[in-house]
Amino acid sequence: MVTGRWVDDEEKGHGTYTFVNRAKYAIEWTGDEPQTDGPWAYANGGKYVGGRDDREHGHGTVMYNDGGTYIGGYDHGNKQGKGTFWYPSGGLYFGDWEGGKPGGQGTFVLPDGGVYIGEWHNGMPNGLGILTEPDNSTKEGLWKDGQFVGAQDSSGGVMRKGSVLVFGASRGTGYEATKLLAERGDHVTAFVRPTSDRSGLEPLGVDYAVGNILDPASVAAAFASGEFRAVINTVGGRRGEPRPDFEGVKNMVEAAKAAGVSRVLLVTAIGTGDSLNTVSARTREVLGPVLAIKSEAEAYLTASGLNYTILRPGGLTREPASGTGIMTEDHGVMGSISRAELGALVVRALDDDSTIGKILHTVDPAITNKPPLER
Ligand SMILES: NC(=O)c1ccc[n+]([C@@H]2O[C@H](COP(=O)([O-])OP(=O)(O)OC[C@H]3O[C@@H](n4cnc5c(N)ncnc54)[C@H](OP(=O)(O)O)[C@@H]3O)[C@@H](O)[C@H]2O)c1
Repeated sequence: MVTGRWVDDEEKGHGTYTFVNRAKYAIEWTGDEPQTDGPWAYANGGKYVGGRDDREHGHGTVMYNDGGTYIGGYDHGNKQGKGTFWYPSGGLYFGDWEGGKPGGQGTFVLPDGGVYIGEWHNGMPNGLGILTEPDNSTKEGLWKDGQFVGAQDSSGGVMRKGSVLVFGASRGTGYEATKLLAERGDHVTAFVRPTSDRSGLEPLGVDYAVGNILDPASVAAAFASGEFRAVINTVGGRRGEPRPDFEGVKNMVEAAKAAGVSRVLLVTAIGTGDSLNTVSARTREVLGPVLAIKSEAEAYLTASGLNYTILRPGGLTREPASGTGIMTEDHGVMGSISRAELGALVVRALDDDSTIGKILHTVDPAITNKPPLER
């Protein structure tokens, strides 16, 4: 929309168009009309050459003053149709444009060499697509606003309904992971005990499998209750109850194998397996027996042939998710992390096939207080 216009006194001179919400154009004029074939120089330094009506229209090339370059279609000032954009960051997009943004089918080559090929909407991966990382690992399936949502099954449908079975869903880390999965549209079956408090789960609309992880029949029945693409286990013991850390994992592994569910996420603890000396002497003294049975559980899972990811958290807190938690293959790392942040990392690891076969320490470097037994 033209909101202002200025023309030199001379018949052949300069003029400006100012479009609402857009850059100011300094346009060469001939008489009363803007030139129709020479370049347009944007007031902020960029240049446009190509088709036009009173705006960019048809096919054109833009060179922005930050180094970005676009060659492709336009529709009354908006990038539209087929086009290629070289971003100043080093990224490259080619494919369909819709209303000025990538929309339709397109390919984005990231500055680090990763490549996303698939559907776009509103300038972001939305729909079905595949991201191939520089290390050749892939994420293939459904994307929403640039985030990977879930894998596809063999028929091409996205496995979402009834797709994740969670042991430990009623409280703590398992609950946090369940909430994130349910809120983004994944269907979760929560394995709960008859005595578990379900009040937090009720609003999430999850399904339930009721049993005890120490009872193999109830674990097998849980796997038989749906078609699962993955299982998560965050179960931990309570004082006065039999420890579920090893027997529970063993029951879960055997039932997963029998049901053909190959993807497993297990939460153990820093101090387990080869990380015993990463924790303090005091932690080893107090938690030694628990760390020993969690080590047996890790060994059972890693030898199972299943596609496991084991997350070993440091000391757990009850703070909200911070977004600053990390997963690292460095088994010398110790620290703290909130259950909410750990729940988010569980979901992230589930989505990321490059974590398969890995044991990752999870801490939040932003928490500077040492865990109680480490002080
Ligand atoms: N506390 C720490 O600082 C710390 C540090 C490192 C690692 N960890 C480990 O991290 C994991 C997550 O810890 P968290 O504090 O978030 O959870 P948690 O309190 O250790 O685990 C609680 C969950 O396990 C379930 N559960 C316990 N026994 C069960 C059984 N026999 N059958 C089925 N479900 C059972 C509970 O169900 P109910 O609601 O029915 O009880 C609840 O959903 C645990 O493995 C824990 O040992 C903890």
